[in-house]
Amino acid sequence: MFYSFLRPLLFKLDPEVAHCVTFGAIEKALKLGLLKHQIIPCQQRQVMGITFPNPIGLAAGLDKNGEHLDALATLGFGFIEVGTVTPRPQPGNPAPRIFRVPKAHAIINRMGFNNHGVDRLIENIKTSSYQGILGINIGKNFDTPIENAVEDYRICLHKVYRYASYITINISSPNTQNLRQLQSATALNEMLSELKSEQHNLSQKHGKYTPLVVKIAPDLDTSQVETIAKLLIKHQVDGVIATNTTLSRNGIEHLAVSHETGGMSGAPLTQAATEIIKQLHHFLQDSIPIIGVGGIMSAKDAKDKIDAGACLIQIYTGLVYQGPGLVSDIAKEVCETAV
Ligand SMILES: Cc1cc2nc3c(=O)[nH]c(=O)nc-3n(C[C@H](O)[C@H](O)[C@H](O)COP(=O)(O)O)c2cc1C
Repeated sequence: MFYSFLRPLLFKLDPEVAHCVTFGAIEKALKLGLLKHQIIPCQQRQVMGITFPNPIGLAAGLDKNGEHLDALATLGFGFIEVGTVTPRPQPGNPAPRIFRVPKAHAIINRMGFNNHGVDRLIENIKTSSYQGILGINIGKNFDTPIENAVEDYRICLHKVYRYASYITINISSPNTQNLRQLQSATALNEMLSELKSEQHNLSQKHGKYTPLVVKIAPDLDTSQVETIAKLLIKHQVDGVIATNTTLSRNGIEHLAVSHETGGMSGAPLTQAATEIIKQLHHFLQDSIPIIGVGGIMSAKDAKDKIDAGACLIQIYTGLVYQGPGLVSDIAKEVCETAV
């Protein structure tokens, strides 16, 4: 309700400015003790050996550096994913690099993994009070050649291992040159074999098993989805996130901003992401849990993702358009039993 008054004001600002203003205000309110913790009554669920208090998560990209965990925790999420983080800090692409498409309830972004680097992320996590489930999404630096990408993921995996509830291998951002090539059979096979073996070593070292999850694009045909699914099974990957943003401009072709380069999220992505989840579910047959994301703008969209085979869901653009009330709206639809 409150957000419907706030949104037109925020939408008058540049998206990155609006992001800073919003988090500035939330952080201040948190310090003054003015933020009420949104309680989400929901039956817990076990996924990847982790107990999730509810199935609604925050998708990667909103809190790239893990700077706002305590504030985000008040919104009632069952889990929060931070990142994408890279081994070294990098500024990302020049601004403007994020565009709202209000008529379509969409966003186009070409941020390009702007982040303060994995070491800073860890410092931020250590200083936060957040005790909930934390996904850490890792990627490669823009200037690391794609042939050496695995090394960047290995560095991040090593550093974040003990701090994460699960780790997401992001190979599907459209804004880092050639990154999506890592979804091809040969590259993915090699990468998963290296990272799973590293995970094994780290689990022995730390006495803690941190699940590895792969995040894929929506711009894949059925045979590519099948190939990926087979590799996920072969390497016993712990989970899959479907999907990242899309290169498609379906649904917004007629709008001026559609020519902007980048990945599109929000309402025009809903169906495509759900279709990928259906296909993954068909090929995986419940062997690997699916986290559904992409254009969840309402409780019904979330339910559709779960009906398609997802056991957890994440939101990002829906939060921008609908506000934090979306978390409790979704919970009413997807939480079987209040406890
Ligand atoms: C501005 C912006 C930045 C994003 N940054 C990342 C990122 O760093 N890593 C990542 O895996 N996904 C990133 N995403 C993708 C989201 O996590 C999500 O997969 C995608 O937006 C689809 O969900 P949505 O329609 O609910 O936004 C970003 C999305 C947006 C809009």
